[in-house]
Amino acid sequence: MKVAVVGTGYVGLATGISLAYLGHKVTCIDIAVDKIESLRQGKLPIFEPGLEELFLKAKQNLHFTTSFTQGLEQSNVIFLAVGTPANSDGSSNLTYLFSAVDETIAYLSYHKWPTVLVNKSTAPVGTSDLIVERVEAACIQHVVTVASNPEFLSQGKVVNDTLYPERIVIGGDDRAIRVLQELYSPIISQSFASPEQTPRPKHLKGVPIISVDTRSAELAKYAANAFLAMKISFINEIANLCDLVGADVTKVAAVIGKDSRIGSSFLQAGIGYGGSCFPKDTLALQFISNTIGYDFKLLSSVISVNNSQKFIIIEKLREELGPLYGKKIAVLGLTFKPGTDDIREAPSIPIIHSLLSGGAEVYVHDPVALDKARASLPSTVHFMNQLSDALIDADGALLITEWPEYLEIDAEYLSSVMRRPLFIDGRNAMDTSSWRGIIEYRGVGISNNEN
Ligand code: UGA
Repeated sequence: MKVAVVGTGYVGLATGISLAYLGHKVTCIDIAVDKIESLRQGKLPIFEPGLEELFLKAKQNLHFTTSFTQGLEQSNVIFLAVGTPANSDGSSNLTYLFSAVDETIAYLSYHKWPTVLVNKSTAPVGTSDLIVERVEAACIQHVVTVASNPEFLSQGKVVNDTLYPERIVIGGDDRAIRVLQELYSPIISQSFASPEQTPRPKHLKGVPIISVDTRSAELAKYAANAFLAMKISFINEIANLCDLVGADVTKVAAVIGKDSRIGSSFLQAGIGYGGSCFPKDTLALQFISNTIGYDFKLLSSVISVNNSQKFIIIEKLREELGPLYGKKIAVLGLTFKPGTDDIREAPSIPIIHSLLSGGAEVYVHDPVALDKARASLPSTVHFMNQLSDALIDADGALLITEWPEYLEIDAEYLSSVMRRPLFIDGRNAMDTSSWRGIIEYRGVGISNNEN
């Protein structure tokens, strides 16, 4: 089929490149001239395991353009995958989305080619209906069918999540479902040769399609992210309780996670969730609820727990070191999670600001995000290319992102280079079985009670 994808962020690129890999003819459209130029030269603007391989293999089916006229020509399916960032009141900024919609409708009003206009951007409930209104206003509803097809990609796993999703959700009418079913048929039946770097999970034989109305599809996206955020805030509250009652949250999570009704994922306690999705989407869902007069109390608590959770490790640092003025603190990791260079809404940023306001000397290290972070942090922060330079003579180290290289840090090494071998693990990620007596270790909700 012929496919156009508007927006070349994580979702747009993963969708476009994967569909081209599966044999469709894909044109990716973006208004950012530099981005399109570098994509044409074969350079990916994002760091994603396995995407380069797919990109190389799909090259002959992929085109990049800044022109809607060129990109939309004769497309059977047009995906909208542009950013919907948060406004200061928590609502979603739909400027980019509707500008893409208007450009698309302007083109289709003239060419009247039958197509399915599919929104993949996370957008408030009712957005598809607003797109339908514009399609009707342009009198092209007989050729253009509107659908909602939310994505559930995790950064660092976008190739896996695109080729081997747990479900494909389609909100729309019979025609939209039929066309998208055909488009996704290699994924639905898992009938394609899997790329070397992203092999098919052994158990996967096929992928279910869930077809619903557009409003349910739109709300399901927010509900999924809010539910996962709720699991994280829940386990973080249990962790805080563990600290007070002398229990260990990793053991509590292991016990409750074995219950298949609860599930073991997203029960990793620590400094809370960040990134470009959970913080934005929970606020947007809260905004949607408030706008219609519904007080979503549980969601408000999820957000408020997450806002305060990141500062728990600074309290722990103060409990051990007293005032932070003049103390050298090593901050390990800046990105919101490992496997990405994204620092959007990363807990590291407010944590570093708080350390600085306490007068600490802050030395940061990250394997991939130092350059990106320079723009978001004050010039008083020391950016260290070598992990050892951040740790030498430090009065304490904070683990913010569980990058694999940090998990291998040796206790003897830490104790030999740090002024005080105090290690506060904001992700409960370190294996500390051989650390006792060498390092002063504190996790989040991990008591030192051995009984
Ligand atoms: C999230 C969802 O997992 C995807 O399903 C969704 O499609 C995506 O948002 C989106 O809306 O586009 P992502 O933001 O890439 O994906 O990252 P996650 O792996 O979900 O992690 C989010 C944050 O939660 C990270 O800061 C991570 O450190 C934190 N987290 C995660 C925890 O603190 N504990 C956990 O147990 C799991």
